[in-house]
Amino acid sequence: MNDLDALPTNFRWGAATSAYQIEGAVHEDGRAPSIWDTFSHTPGTVDNGDTGDTACDHYHRYPEDIRLIGRLGLDAYRFSIAWPRVVPQADGRVNPAGLAFYDRLVDALLAAGITPFPTLYHWDLPQAQQDRGGWPERATAERFAEYAAAVAERLGDRVTHWGTLNEPLCSSWIGHLEGKMAPGLTDLTAAVRTSYHLHLAHGLATQALRAAVPGARIGLTNNLSTIEPATGSAADLAAARRADGHINRWWLDPVHGRGYPQDMVELYGVELPVRDGDLELIGAPLDWLGLNYYFRQIVADDPSGPVPRFRQVPGPNPERTAMDWEVHAPGIEELLLRLTEEYGARELYVTENGAAYPDTVTADGRVEDLERAGYLEQHLAACARAVAKGAPLAGYFAWSLLDNFEWAYGYDKRFGLVHVDYATQRRTVKRSGHRYAEVIRAHRAR
Ligand code: FCB
Repeated sequence: MNDLDALPTNFRWGAATSAYQIEGAVHEDGRAPSIWDTFSHTPGTVDNGDTGDTACDHYHRYPEDIRLIGRLGLDAYRFSIAWPRVVPQADGRVNPAGLAFYDRLVDALLAAGITPFPTLYHWDLPQAQQDRGGWPERATAERFAEYAAAVAERLGDRVTHWGTLNEPLCSSWIGHLEGKMAPGLTDLTAAVRTSYHLHLAHGLATQALRAAVPGARIGLTNNLSTIEPATGSAADLAAARRADGHINRWWLDPVHGRGYPQDMVELYGVELPVRDGDLELIGAPLDWLGLNYYFRQIVADDPSGPVPRFRQVPGPNPERTAMDWEVHAPGIEELLLRLTEEYGARELYVTENGAAYPDTVTADGRVEDLERAGYLEQHLAACARAVAKGAPLAGYFAWSLLDNFEWAYGYDKRFGLVHVDYATQRRTVKRSGHRYAEVIRAHRAR
Protein backbone atom coordinates (compact mmCIF):
# COMPACT_ATOMS: atom_id res chain seq x y z
CA MET A 1 0.00 0.00 0.00
CA ASN A 2 1.96 2.98 -1.32
CA ASP A 3 0.18 5.51 0.82
CA LEU A 4 2.00 4.16 3.89
CA ASP A 5 5.47 4.60 2.42
CA ALA A 6 6.08 7.71 4.51
CA LEU A 7 5.94 5.71 7.76
CA PRO A 8 9.46 5.12 9.08
CA THR A 9 11.15 1.76 8.55
CA ASN A 10 11.33 1.07 12.28
CA PHE A 11 7.66 2.03 12.80
CA ARG A 12 6.11 0.13 15.72
CA TRP A 13 2.95 -1.78 14.90
CA GLY A 14 0.79 -2.56 17.88
CA ALA A 15 -2.59 -3.04 19.46
CA ALA A 16 -3.92 -1.80 22.79
CA THR A 17 -6.07 -3.09 25.63
CA SER A 18 -6.66 -2.16 29.27
CA ALA A 19 -6.74 -4.20 32.46
CA TYR A 20 -10.34 -3.90 33.60
CA GLN A 21 -11.64 -4.30 30.05
CA ILE A 22 -10.03 -7.70 29.44
CA GLU A 23 -8.54 -9.36 32.52
CA GLY A 24 -11.50 -10.62 34.55
CA ALA A 25 -10.28 -12.57 37.63
CA VAL A 26 -11.38 -9.69 39.81
CA HIS A 27 -11.04 -11.63 43.06
CA GLU A 28 -7.84 -13.49 42.32
CA ASP A 29 -4.40 -13.30 43.90
CA GLY A 30 -5.28 -10.53 46.31
CA ARG A 31 -6.88 -8.04 43.89
CA ALA A 32 -9.33 -5.71 45.63
CA PRO A 33 -12.17 -3.81 43.95
CA SER A 34 -11.58 -0.69 41.89
CA ILE A 35 -14.04 2.13 41.29
CA TRP A 36 -15.05 0.31 38.11
CA ASP A 37 -16.08 -2.82 40.03
CA THR A 38 -18.22 -0.63 42.26
CA PHE A 39 -19.65 1.38 39.36
CA SER A 40 -20.43 -1.59 37.12
CA HIS A 41 -22.13 -3.40 39.99
CA THR A 42 -24.36 -0.39 40.63
CA PRO A 43 -27.70 -1.01 38.86
CA GLY A 44 -28.40 1.25 35.91
CA THR A 45 -24.81 2.35 35.20
CA VAL A 46 -23.72 -0.08 32.47
CA ASP A 47 -25.78 -1.35 29.51
CA ASN A 48 -27.28 -4.79 30.15
CA GLY A 49 -25.88 -4.76 33.68
CA ASP A 50 -22.53 -5.97 32.30
CA THR A 51 -19.44 -5.97 34.55
CA GLY A 52 -15.75 -6.75 34.08
CA ASP A 53 -15.91 -9.74 36.42
CA THR A 54 -14.90 -12.19 33.70
CA ALA A 55 -14.39 -10.00 30.61
CA CYS A 56 -12.03 -11.83 28.20
CA ASP A 57 -10.53 -13.92 30.99
CA HIS A 58 -7.18 -12.60 29.82
CA TYR A 59 -5.73 -13.10 33.31
CA HIS A 60 -5.75 -16.82 32.58
CA ARG A 61 -5.62 -16.78 28.79
CA TYR A 62 -2.76 -14.33 28.27
CA PRO A 63 -0.49 -16.97 26.65
CA GLU A 64 -3.13 -17.54 23.95
CA ASP A 65 -3.61 -13.79 23.54
CA ILE A 66 0.12 -13.25 23.10
CA ARG A 67 0.12 -15.92 20.41
CA LEU A 68 -2.62 -13.91 18.68
CA ILE A 69 -0.51 -10.75 18.87
CA GLY A 70 2.26 -12.75 17.24
CA ARG A 71 -0.06 -14.06 14.51
CA LEU A 72 -1.08 -10.51 13.65
CA GLY A 73 2.62 -9.71 13.23
CA LEU A 74 2.62 -6.95 15.84
CA ASP A 75 5.87 -5.94 17.49
CA ALA A 76 4.41 -3.86 20.34
CA TYR A 77 1.57 -4.31 22.81
CA ARG A 78 0.01 -1.57 24.92
CA PHE A 79 -1.74 -2.86 28.02
CA SER A 80 -2.46 -1.39 31.42
CA ILE A 81 -1.42 -2.47 34.88
CA ALA A 82 -4.18 -2.70 37.47
CA TRP A 83 -3.34 -0.62 40.54
CA PRO A 84 -5.90 -2.67 42.56
CA ARG A 85 -3.83 -5.81 41.93
CA VAL A 86 -0.53 -4.21 42.90
CA VAL A 87 -1.53 -2.07 45.90
CA PRO A 88 -5.07 -3.28 46.62
CA GLN A 89 -5.73 -1.64 49.98
CA ALA A 90 -5.36 1.74 51.60
CA ASP A 91 -2.47 0.55 53.81
CA GLY A 92 -0.08 0.87 50.86
CA ARG A 93 1.17 -2.71 51.08
CA VAL A 94 2.44 -4.09 47.77
CA ASN A 95 0.78 -7.37 46.76
CA PRO A 96 3.52 -9.55 45.23
CA ALA A 97 0.98 -12.00 43.76
CA GLY A 98 -0.65 -9.17 41.82
CA LEU A 99 2.67 -7.89 40.49
CA ALA A 100 3.64 -11.41 39.53
CA PHE A 101 0.95 -11.47 36.84
CA TYR A 102 2.58 -8.55 35.03
CA ASP A 103 5.95 -10.18 35.49
CA ARG A 104 4.69 -13.26 33.66
CA LEU A 105 3.00 -11.15 31.01
CA VAL A 106 6.13 -9.08 30.29
CA ASP A 107 8.33 -12.18 30.14
CA ALA A 108 5.94 -13.89 27.76
CA LEU A 109 5.77 -10.80 25.52
CA LEU A 110 9.54 -10.45 25.39
CA ALA A 111 9.95 -14.14 24.66
CA ALA A 112 7.62 -13.64 21.67
CA GLY A 113 9.62 -10.61 20.46
CA ILE A 114 6.90 -8.12 21.38
CA THR A 115 7.81 -4.84 23.11
CA PRO A 116 5.65 -4.12 26.18
CA PHE A 117 4.14 -0.62 26.47
CA PRO A 118 2.43 -0.63 29.88
CA THR A 119 0.18 2.19 31.07
CA LEU A 120 0.01 2.63 34.83
CA TYR A 121 -3.49 4.08 35.06
CA HIS A 122 -6.37 3.20 32.77
CA TRP A 123 -9.20 4.32 35.09
CA ASP A 124 -9.23 1.53 37.70
CA LEU A 125 -8.58 3.46 40.91
CA PRO A 126 -8.59 1.12 43.94
CA GLN A 127 -11.91 1.59 45.74
CA ALA A 128 -9.87 1.93 48.95
CA GLN A 129 -8.35 5.14 47.52
CA GLN A 130 -11.78 6.37 46.44
CA ASP A 131 -13.02 5.81 49.97
CA ARG A 132 -10.27 8.17 51.16
CA GLY A 133 -11.45 10.87 48.79
CA GLY A 134 -10.10 9.69 45.42
CA TRP A 135 -8.66 12.01 42.78
CA PRO A 136 -10.09 15.23 44.19
CA GLU A 137 -7.51 14.72 46.99
CA ARG A 138 -3.78 15.32 46.65
CA ALA A 139 -2.89 12.20 48.65
CA THR A 140 -4.18 10.02 45.78
CA ALA A 141 -1.46 11.43 43.50
CA GLU A 142 1.14 10.63 46.16
CA ARG A 143 -0.17 7.06 46.54
CA PHE A 144 -0.04 6.69 42.74
CA ALA A 145 3.66 7.58 42.72
CA GLU A 146 4.33 4.89 45.36
CA TYR A 147 2.45 2.35 43.28
CA ALA A 148 4.42 3.44 40.18
CA ALA A 149 7.68 3.00 42.07
CA ALA A 150 6.71 -0.55 43.10
CA VAL A 151 5.90 -1.49 39.51
CA ALA A 152 9.08 0.12 38.20
CA GLU A 153 11.20 -1.76 40.69
CA ARG A 154 9.72 -5.08 39.62
CA LEU A 155 9.52 -4.58 35.82
CA GLY A 156 12.08 -1.86 35.16
CA ASP A 157 14.83 -4.32 34.25
CA ARG A 158 12.75 -5.38 31.22
CA VAL A 159 10.37 -2.52 30.40
CA THR A 160 11.64 0.66 28.74
CA HIS A 161 8.45 2.33 27.46
CA TRP A 162 6.10 3.58 30.16
CA GLY A 163 2.81 5.43 29.98
CA THR A 164 1.56 7.08 33.15
CA LEU A 165 -2.07 7.97 32.41
CA ASN A 166 -4.66 7.04 29.85
CA GLU A 167 -7.07 9.83 28.92
CA PRO A 168 -7.20 11.92 32.09
CA LEU A 169 -10.00 13.84 30.35
CA CYS A 170 -12.34 10.86 30.71
CA SER A 171 -11.48 10.27 34.38
CA SER A 172 -12.09 13.96 35.08
CA TRP A 173 -14.88 15.16 32.81
CA ILE A 174 -16.80 11.92 32.22
CA GLY A 175 -16.17 10.39 35.67
CA HIS A 176 -16.52 13.47 37.89
CA LEU A 177 -18.50 16.02 35.85
CA GLU A 178 -20.87 14.08 33.58
CA GLY A 179 -21.19 11.08 35.92
CA LYS A 180 -21.23 8.56 33.07
CA MET A 181 -18.13 6.70 34.18
CA ALA A 182 -16.73 5.69 37.56
CA PRO A 183 -16.94 7.12 40.14
CA GLY A 184 -20.12 8.67 38.67
CA LEU A 185 -19.96 12.19 40.14
CA THR A 186 -21.43 15.38 38.66
CA ASP A 187 -19.39 18.02 40.44
CA LEU A 188 -17.30 20.64 38.60
CA THR A 189 -15.04 21.34 41.57
CA ALA A 190 -14.30 17.63 42.05
CA ALA A 191 -13.71 17.29 38.30
CA VAL A 192 -11.23 20.17 38.09
CA ARG A 193 -9.39 19.00 41.20
CA THR A 194 -9.29 15.50 39.70
CA SER A 195 -7.67 16.80 36.52
CA TYR A 196 -5.06 18.63 38.57
CA HIS A 197 -4.22 15.66 40.78
CA LEU A 198 -4.05 13.34 37.79
CA HIS A 199 -1.48 15.66 36.25
CA LEU A 200 0.38 15.77 39.54
CA ALA A 201 0.23 11.96 39.68
CA HIS A 202 1.77 11.89 36.21
CA GLY A 203 4.55 14.24 37.33
CA LEU A 204 5.30 12.37 40.54
CA ALA A 205 5.20 8.98 38.83
CA THR A 206 7.52 10.24 36.09
CA GLN A 207 10.00 11.26 38.77
CA ALA A 208 9.71 7.84 40.46
CA LEU A 209 10.13 6.00 37.15
CA ARG A 210 13.18 8.05 36.19
CA ALA A 211 14.78 7.27 39.55
CA ALA A 212 14.09 3.53 39.27
CA VAL A 213 14.59 2.87 35.56
CA PRO A 214 17.64 4.40 33.89
CA GLY A 215 16.88 4.95 30.22
CA ALA A 216 13.09 4.77 30.70
CA ARG A 217 11.02 6.36 27.92
CA ILE A 218 8.06 7.97 29.64
CA GLY A 219 4.94 9.56 28.24
CA LEU A 220 1.21 9.84 28.65
CA THR A 221 -1.85 9.47 26.50
CA ASN A 222 -4.57 12.02 25.81
CA ASN A 223 -7.74 11.63 23.81
CA LEU A 224 -8.01 14.72 21.65
CA SER A 225 -10.43 15.97 19.01
CA THR A 226 -10.24 18.48 16.24
CA ILE A 227 -12.84 21.16 16.92
CA GLU A 228 -14.90 23.02 14.36
CA PRO A 229 -17.53 25.70 14.97
CA ALA A 230 -21.01 24.74 13.71
CA THR A 231 -21.36 28.13 11.99
CA GLY A 232 -19.24 31.22 11.48
CA SER A 233 -21.17 33.18 14.11
CA ALA A 234 -19.18 34.91 16.82
CA ALA A 235 -21.02 32.85 19.46
CA ASP A 236 -20.12 29.53 17.81
CA LEU A 237 -16.52 30.62 17.26
CA ALA A 238 -16.24 31.44 20.96
CA ALA A 239 -17.87 28.07 21.81
CA ALA A 240 -15.27 26.32 19.64
CA ARG A 241 -12.51 28.09 21.52
CA ARG A 242 -14.00 26.94 24.84
CA ALA A 243 -14.40 23.40 23.51
CA ASP A 244 -10.75 23.41 22.41
CA GLY A 245 -9.81 24.51 25.93
CA HIS A 246 -11.95 21.84 27.58
CA ILE A 247 -10.96 18.97 25.31
CA ASN A 248 -7.44 19.76 24.11
CA ARG A 249 -5.55 22.65 25.74
CA TRP A 250 -6.42 21.76 29.36
CA TRP A 251 -4.71 18.40 28.80
CA LEU A 252 -1.77 19.52 26.69
CA ASP A 253 -0.60 22.86 28.10
CA PRO A 254 0.29 21.74 31.67
CA VAL A 255 2.25 18.65 30.61
CA HIS A 256 4.25 20.85 28.25
CA GLY A 257 5.29 23.20 31.03
CA ARG A 258 2.83 25.93 30.05
CA GLY A 259 0.56 25.80 33.09
CA TYR A 260 -3.22 25.77 32.77
CA PRO A 261 -4.95 27.87 30.09
CA GLN A 262 -6.07 31.05 31.82
CA ASP A 263 -9.33 31.40 29.86
CA MET A 264 -10.42 27.97 31.13
CA VAL A 265 -9.28 28.57 34.70
CA GLU A 266 -11.56 31.63 34.67
CA LEU A 267 -14.43 29.80 33.02
CA TYR A 268 -14.37 26.88 35.49
CA GLY A 269 -13.96 29.27 38.41
CA VAL A 270 -12.42 26.54 40.57
CA GLU A 271 -9.24 27.30 42.44
CA LEU A 272 -6.44 24.92 41.46
CA PRO A 273 -4.69 23.47 44.53
CA VAL A 274 -1.22 24.35 43.22
CA ARG A 275 1.76 24.11 45.56
CA ASP A 276 5.28 25.33 44.94
CA GLY A 277 7.08 23.18 42.42
CA ASP A 278 3.98 21.33 41.19
CA LEU A 279 3.79 22.95 37.78
CA GLU A 280 7.46 22.16 37.10
CA LEU A 281 6.86 18.51 38.03
CA ILE A 282 3.75 18.33 35.85
CA GLY A 283 5.55 20.00 32.97
CA ALA A 284 8.77 17.97 33.11
CA PRO A 285 9.87 16.98 29.59
CA LEU A 286 8.12 13.96 28.07
CA ASP A 287 9.94 11.33 26.04
CA TRP A 288 6.83 10.65 24.00
CA LEU A 289 3.25 11.78 23.72
CA GLY A 290 0.34 9.44 23.02
CA LEU A 291 -2.72 10.41 20.97
CA ASN A 292 -5.98 8.48 21.18
CA TYR A 293 -8.13 9.56 18.28
CA TYR A 294 -11.75 8.63 17.67
CA PHE A 295 -13.71 11.62 16.33
CA ARG A 296 -13.82 15.32 15.60
CA GLN A 297 -16.24 17.61 17.38
CA ILE A 298 -18.40 20.19 15.68
CA VAL A 299 -19.71 22.49 18.36
CA ALA A 300 -22.29 25.20 18.85
CA ASP A 301 -22.79 27.74 21.58
CA ASP A 302 -25.07 26.56 24.39
CA PRO A 303 -25.57 29.66 26.52
CA SER A 304 -27.99 28.03 28.95
CA GLY A 305 -26.06 24.76 29.26
CA PRO A 306 -23.60 23.89 32.03
CA VAL A 307 -20.00 25.17 31.88
CA PRO A 308 -18.24 25.05 29.42
CA ARG A 309 -21.51 25.90 27.59
CA PHE A 310 -21.09 24.23 24.21
CA ARG A 311 -22.91 21.34 22.63
CA GLN A 312 -21.81 18.90 19.98
CA VAL A 313 -23.71 18.82 16.70
CA PRO A 314 -23.62 15.77 14.38
CA GLY A 315 -20.93 15.79 11.69
CA PRO A 316 -21.96 15.61 8.03
CA ASN A 317 -20.23 12.34 7.10
CA PRO A 318 -22.88 9.59 6.89
CA GLU A 319 -20.23 6.98 7.77
CA ARG A 320 -20.69 6.30 11.50
CA THR A 321 -19.59 3.57 13.87
CA ALA A 322 -21.81 1.59 16.23
CA MET A 323 -20.99 4.21 18.89
CA ASP A 324 -22.61 6.74 16.53
CA TRP A 325 -19.19 8.37 16.17
CA GLU A 326 -18.66 10.09 12.83
CA VAL A 327 -15.79 8.59 10.82
CA HIS A 328 -13.39 11.42 10.00
CA ALA A 329 -9.85 10.28 9.26
CA PRO A 330 -8.39 13.74 8.44
CA GLY A 331 -8.74 14.58 12.15
CA ILE A 332 -5.90 12.25 13.11
CA GLU A 333 -3.57 13.93 10.61
CA GLU A 334 -4.52 17.38 11.84
CA LEU A 335 -3.95 16.45 15.49
CA LEU A 336 -0.57 14.83 14.85
CA LEU A 337 0.52 17.98 13.04
CA ARG A 338 -0.80 20.22 15.80
CA LEU A 339 1.14 18.25 18.43
CA THR A 340 4.23 18.61 16.28
CA GLU A 341 3.93 22.27 15.36
CA GLU A 342 2.23 23.81 18.37
CA TYR A 343 3.61 21.59 21.15
CA GLY A 344 6.98 20.65 19.65
CA ALA A 345 6.43 16.89 20.09
CA ARG A 346 9.59 14.93 19.46
CA GLU A 347 8.12 11.42 19.53
CA LEU A 348 4.47 10.60 18.98
CA TYR A 349 2.46 7.41 19.16
CA VAL A 350 -1.12 6.84 18.20
CA THR A 351 -1.87 4.87 21.35
CA GLU A 352 -5.50 4.15 20.37
CA ASN A 353 -7.59 4.40 17.23
CA GLY A 354 -10.38 2.10 16.17
CA ALA A 355 -14.09 1.57 15.70
CA ALA A 356 -17.02 -0.47 16.96
CA TYR A 357 -19.27 -2.27 14.48
CA PRO A 358 -21.98 -4.88 15.08
CA ASP A 359 -19.85 -7.87 14.03
CA THR A 360 -21.30 -11.29 13.48
CA VAL A 361 -19.62 -14.66 13.06
CA THR A 362 -20.58 -16.51 9.86
CA ALA A 363 -21.64 -20.16 9.92
CA ASP A 364 -18.13 -21.16 8.85
CA GLY A 365 -16.54 -19.07 11.59
CA ARG A 366 -15.42 -15.86 9.88
CA VAL A 367 -16.00 -12.21 10.83
CA GLU A 368 -16.21 -10.09 7.69
CA ASP A 369 -15.81 -6.65 9.24
CA LEU A 370 -14.98 -4.78 6.07
CA GLU A 371 -15.97 -1.45 7.60
CA ARG A 372 -13.37 -1.80 10.35
CA ALA A 373 -10.72 -2.82 7.82
CA GLY A 374 -11.59 0.30 5.80
CA TYR A 375 -11.51 2.49 8.90
CA LEU A 376 -8.05 1.19 9.76
CA GLU A 377 -6.69 1.81 6.27
CA GLN A 378 -8.12 5.33 6.07
CA HIS A 379 -6.67 6.31 9.42
CA LEU A 380 -3.27 4.75 8.72
CA ALA A 381 -3.11 6.64 5.44
CA ALA A 382 -3.92 9.87 7.32
CA CYS A 383 -1.11 9.08 9.79
CA ALA A 384 1.30 8.58 6.90
CA ARG A 385 0.28 11.97 5.46
CA ALA A 386 1.09 13.57 8.82
CA VAL A 387 4.50 11.87 8.80
CA ALA A 388 5.15 13.13 5.27
CA LYS A 389 4.48 16.64 6.58
CA GLY A 390 6.89 16.24 9.49
CA ALA A 391 5.06 14.55 12.40
CA PRO A 392 7.54 12.34 14.37
CA LEU A 393 5.11 9.41 14.57
CA ALA A 394 6.93 6.33 15.86
CA GLY A 395 4.10 3.81 16.12
CA TYR A 396 0.41 3.00 15.96
CA PHE A 397 -1.68 0.89 18.36
CA ALA A 398 -5.05 -0.23 17.09
CA TRP A 399 -7.87 -0.19 19.62
CA SER A 400 -8.37 -2.94 20.36
CA LEU A 401 -6.64 -6.30 20.22
CA LEU A 402 -9.80 -8.03 21.49
CA ASP A 403 -13.47 -7.25 21.79
CA ASN A 404 -13.85 -6.29 25.44
CA PHE A 405 -15.82 -4.56 28.21
CA GLU A 406 -16.55 -1.17 26.65
CA TRP A 407 -17.13 0.67 29.94
CA ALA A 408 -20.69 2.02 30.30
CA TYR A 409 -21.63 0.31 27.00
CA GLY A 410 -20.73 -3.15 28.27
CA TYR A 411 -19.97 -5.99 25.83
CA ASP A 412 -22.32 -4.91 23.04
CA LYS A 413 -19.81 -2.54 21.50
CA ARG A 414 -17.08 -4.54 19.82
CA PHE A 415 -13.81 -2.80 18.93
CA GLY A 416 -11.53 -5.83 18.52
CA LEU A 417 -9.34 -6.97 15.64
CA VAL A 418 -10.11 -10.31 17.23
CA HIS A 419 -13.67 -11.39 17.98
CA VAL A 420 -14.43 -12.83 21.42
CA ASP A 421 -17.35 -15.17 21.99
CA TYR A 422 -17.99 -14.42 25.65
CA ALA A 423 -19.89 -17.67 26.29
CA THR A 424 -16.95 -19.86 25.23
CA GLN A 425 -14.06 -17.33 25.31
CA ARG A 426 -13.27 -18.43 21.77
CA ARG A 427 -11.12 -15.94 19.84
CA THR A 428 -11.53 -15.43 16.07
CA VAL A 429 -9.27 -13.10 14.09
CA LYS A 430 -11.59 -10.80 12.13
CA ARG A 431 -11.07 -9.75 8.52
CA SER A 432 -9.72 -6.42 9.86
CA GLY A 433 -7.09 -8.29 11.89
CA HIS A 434 -5.96 -10.20 8.80
CA ARG A 435 -5.93 -6.96 6.81
CA TYR A 436 -3.83 -5.22 9.48
CA ALA A 437 -1.36 -8.11 9.38
CA GLU A 438 -1.08 -7.74 5.58
CA VAL A 439 -0.53 -3.99 5.82
CA ILE A 440 2.25 -4.58 8.36
CA ARG A 441 3.89 -7.29 6.25
CA ALA A 442 3.79 -5.06 3.19
CA HIS A 443 5.31 -2.15 5.08
CA ARG A 444 8.12 -4.28 6.47
CA ALA A 445 8.85 -5.76 3.05
CA ARG A 446 9.41 -2.38 1.38
C1 FCB B 1 -11.09 5.16 24.91
C2 FCB B 1 -10.59 4.32 26.06
C3 FCB B 1 -10.56 2.84 25.76
C4 FCB B 1 -11.74 2.40 24.93
C5 FCB B 1 -11.93 3.30 23.72
C6 FCB B 1 -13.05 2.91 22.82
O1 FCB B 1 -11.64 6.33 25.40
O2 FCB B 1 -9.28 4.69 26.43
O3 FCB B 1 -10.46 2.15 26.99
O4 FCB B 1 -12.87 2.34 25.70
O5 FCB B 1 -12.10 4.61 24.14
